[in-house]
Amino acid sequence: MLQSIRLEIAIMLLCDGRTEVRKCAIGREKMMTQYPVDMSVSPEVKAFFDEATNTISYIVADPETKACAVIDSVMDIDYAAGRITYDHANAMIAHIQNNNLTLEWLIETHVHADHLSAAPYIQEKLGGKIGIGRKITVIQDVFGKIFNEGTEFQRDGSQFDALFDDGDTYQIGKMTAFAMHTPGHTPACMVHVIGDAAFVGDTLFMPDGGSARADFPGGDAGELYDSIQKVLSLPDEMRLFICHDYGPGGRDIMWQTTVAEEKSNNIHVGGGKTREEFVKFRTERDAQLAVPKLIIPSLQVNMRAGEVPRDDQGNPVLKVPLNGL
Ligand SMILES: [Fe+2]
Repeated sequence: MLQSIRLEIAIMLLCDGRTEVRKCAIGREKMMTQYPVDMSVSPEVKAFFDEATNTISYIVADPETKACAVIDSVMDIDYAAGRITYDHANAMIAHIQNNNLTLEWLIETHVHADHLSAAPYIQEKLGGKIGIGRKITVIQDVFGKIFNEGTEFQRDGSQFDALFDDGDTYQIGKMTAFAMHTPGHTPACMVHVIGDAAFVGDTLFMPDGGSARADFPGGDAGELYDSIQKVLSLPDEMRLFICHDYGPGGRDIMWQTTVAEEKSNNIHVGGGKTREEFVKFRTERDAQLAVPKLIIPSLQVNMRAGEVPRDDQGNPVLKVPLNGL
């Protein structure tokens, strides 16, 4: 008991409460993070399903102040035609405007490989800050090389307005949100928890969908299992909102579940499956999976916080590195 009190005091002393995204600068990796879970806060959550990529984007609003955050927005692309449009993002913008919400944050749970972010487009219209996990720098380093980016492509995460470490908190109106570092699918994955709602990105799918792949560069099935356990250590009643659903077995698309349901029924980790069982299963399954259709445009755009790269004349352009992935 004494030890845990000392630990909490140490964490309080290390945290700088004056900055918006609070940082605990020293020794964080070695300590058990104390997450500020508050199940008494219940944000309004509006989901937007993108049929082309099976992505679910969210608007999370503080019922009291009408402040909101957008999580994992989507920019539409016809890759064959080289054309981008904004129907999905425009629907989210309309919802925010029609409900008199104030956009404060645009959160990316990770660098997606299967859809393009619309965060800068929405930010230009409505404001807000774009945030992602601090390990984005690892992704930028790896894919900066694969796409043979020049020195003008910064690998320091500076394209984003905020970089989150494990346990960082931020405000959406009067609601306190926090980020949990959940690597495994990618090194930069974060789960964002806002009151009784957690946005799990690609850490978990619906119970009958299991979990996401762990074979991208920097991915790790064992780390993914550990990250999933972190999510499952949240309160049983915590609402979980997932980022993708493919309607396994032909069922309707779904996106909301709970910690309790995932613990009992998740086909990859539920019912007490061991780390060893999961790693073996995940590794064998990943070896069979095809490369995501939009991985080449997605990575180039998403590692730039949703900005489309430009050529020397300033024209938007994408590269296709051959045999690079
Ligand atoms: Fe993903």
